Amino acid sequence: MLLLLIILIYTSTTMYVCLCHAVRTAEINDAVVAGHRDLESVAKKLGVATSCGTCASHAQAIIDSALANLSPSETQYYAA
Ligand code: FES
Repeated sequence: MLLLLIILIYTSTTMYVCLCHAVRTAEINDAVVAGHRDLESVAKKLGVATSCGTCASHAQAIIDSALANLSPSETQYYAA
C-alpha cells in the first residue's frame, strides 16, 4: 500500500502536462509557488499552452490546485 502511494505521488508530480514543451506537473506547481498566478504568466515562463493548446485546460486545473494549496505566506509573492 505504501509503495502504491509513493508511486502515485511520484507519477502525479512527474507527469508531462504539455508535450509540445515537455512541461511537467511539478514545474507548473513550482512556477505558481514562485509567483506565476495565472495561465498567461505560467505560459510565459514555461511555454505551456503556447503551441497546440490542448494542454491549456489541464494546466489551468493544476494552477488552480496549486493556488488552493499555497500557504498564506506564499500568496504574497507575485512574479514580475
Ligand atoms: S501540448 Fe501544450 S502546447 Fe501542445
